[in-house]
Amino acid sequence: MRMLTSGDEDIRIAAEAIKAGRLAAFPTETVYGLGGDAFNVSALARIFEAKRRPRFDPLIVHIADVDSLDMVANAGSLPPSARAKLWALCRKLWPGPLTLVLPKQPAVPDLATSGLPTVAARFPSHPAAQKLIRYSTGAIAAPSANPFGYLSPTKAVHVQEQLGERVDFIIDGGSAGIGVESTVLDLTEEPARILRPGGALREAIEALIGHVEMGSPAQDAPHSPGQLASHYAPNAPLFLHDANDMARLSFCSDEAYLFFDEETRGVWHMRNAPDAGGDERIFTLAAGADMGAADKTLEAAANLFDILHTIDKRKPSAIHAQKSPDSGLGAAINDRLARAAAKRN
Ligand code: TXA
Ligand code: MG
Repeated sequence: MRMLTSGDEDIRIAAEAIKAGRLAAFPTETVYGLGGDAFNVSALARIFEAKRRPRFDPLIVHIADVDSLDMVANAGSLPPSARAKLWALCRKLWPGPLTLVLPKQPAVPDLATSGLPTVAARFPSHPAAQKLIRYSTGAIAAPSANPFGYLSPTKAVHVQEQLGERVDFIIDGGSAGIGVESTVLDLTEEPARILRPGGALREAIEALIGHVEMGSPAQDAPHSPGQLASHYAPNAPLFLHDANDMARLSFCSDEAYLFFDEETRGVWHMRNAPDAGGDERIFTLAAGADMGAADKTLEAAANLFDILHTIDKRKPSAIHAQKSPDSGLGAAINDRLARAAAKRN
């Protein structure tokens, strides 16, 4: 594995590797992706192998402009109403943290879509991601660059620690700005359905295309494994509490505490005086003072996986996490925390 910068020459090195069927991890505005040529089945197989990912889990295909959508998706086969929604979303929310599930082109191998007739397409806004896609094959399949079911990486060092020699190159683009994955929106259903909440807010989507459904379709297929109950999980069992319950917990020196904000942490501290070193196990997702609710959920999302990685390294016997308020990115944060908590069962 070789660490690269996000400079032009380094991105070209990673792009050549992708053209040759090898893998490169790269930054996006949401989390780091583990990229391979979307049209090359051996590259796709390498992705699954590196992630130890079950084959049934389809990958997101990343493109670097709206015109390239034709390479991977067959928008023409959508009904006119869905096509209108697609273009409205592309115009306003691309590039950005929104993945669209659309009828696939035959050129996209079944391995990329797990045999589904649909493809998940995303146009990321991160400049390094866009260059990597352009300099390579124009379409990069990339799941988040973590072992299957584990925490998503928001820094190059997370990828290095988790995938090590299983990846050829890592482009270091600093911290991922948003910190939770893209919203996955299925446009092949009427009404459209959010299969995974994420960086693009439901409110912003509904403002453009009207009401969208949330969660698994009734017949429960095709599965979006981002919906598996125990996804995005740290090693320690995680318990989720609302603010009041969190403030009432008693300190236990081998457990970790993840507060949403300083207010709740402050109330908790009035009851608890952790011993020296106790602070190593106490964290706050949105630590800044005087922030509005939207800024808090933004900061919390950006910190979420990084803090969970840090907590996990300290090997607590349990993690107590405070729920985020549900507004804005809070829905995606709570979704990830609930999945981490579901691993206990
Ligand atoms: O922010 C992100 O989306 C990151 C960055 C790297 O772009 N990628 C990411 O990929 O989170 P991944 O593979 O970890 O998650 C892809 C999600 C999964 O929940 C998968 O099941 C769903 O998208 N998905 C992919 N193709 C699908 C399809 N054809 N139909 C339904 N769901 C699909
Ligand atoms: Mg993932």
